[in-house]
Amino acid sequence: MTPNAAVVPAVRSARVRLRPTMQSDLAFVLSLERDPANLPFITPWERIQHEAAIRFPDFRHFIIETGAGLEPGGFLILIGCRNPHLAVELKRMVVRDKHQGFGRAALKVAKKIAFDDLGAHRFWLDSKKSNARAQALYAGEGFVVEGELRQAVKTAEGYDSLIVMAMLQDEFMRRRAQAAELPA
Ligand SMILES: CC(C)(COP(=O)(O)OP(=O)(O)OC[C@H]1O[C@@H](n2cnc3c(N)ncnc32)[C@H](O)[C@@H]1OP(=O)(O)O)[C@@H](O)C(=O)NCCC(=O)NCCS
Repeated sequence: MTPNAAVVPAVRSARVRLRPTMQSDLAFVLSLERDPANLPFITPWERIQHEAAIRFPDFRHFIIETGAGLEPGGFLILIGCRNPHLAVELKRMVVRDKHQGFGRAALKVAKKIAFDDLGAHRFWLDSKKSNARAQALYAGEGFVVEGELRQAVKTAEGYDSLIVMAMLQDEFMRRRAQAAELPA
């Protein structure tokens, strides 16, 4: 059992379940990061960074379990979990089998963890401007575009910008009142 496991128990939504990542999951995590389908949208970490993220109390590193057998189907990382400003960041989310609703389901669970379990006031993220798929998902899940960090990421072709998006606690609660979020 990892330190994360002791702090945040597994949380299930209708489509996915999140559980703390273990050392034995890291080969799967690294292979997903290096998959050519995902590489354009993320900056992969070294194994040692994931190992640190599993242990560091400010981070929560989760495996997204999917399907009837709840097999590992992706991962997500939250950082700023002990942030004094109560600003939690969705650092990264990757799912293996795309367009099946797993990303949306995992994001709903991540919001519940951020606001209900970690007491976030603000839950935020950035994504490459070229990543229209991710931005459509985040916007559809209530995240508001706050700005653009111009040409912040170096790519093979030149530079890409980062789009910053966030949801505040009162926005989350309003969505929950409209049954757009998982119940408390
Ligand atoms: C981004 C990602 C996590 C989304 O997960 P997913 O399971 O594929 O997404 P879902 O099936 O839940 O789709 C959710 C929404 O995303 C949007 N979406 C999905 N595919 C899309 C596409 N090809 N183009 C535009 N929007 C798309 C839609 O709004 C969709 O909602 P809908 O099904 O109601 O139309 C996943 O595609 C992924 O791992 N991508 C590579 C890594 C990455 O970009 N991570 C995010 C940045 S760190």
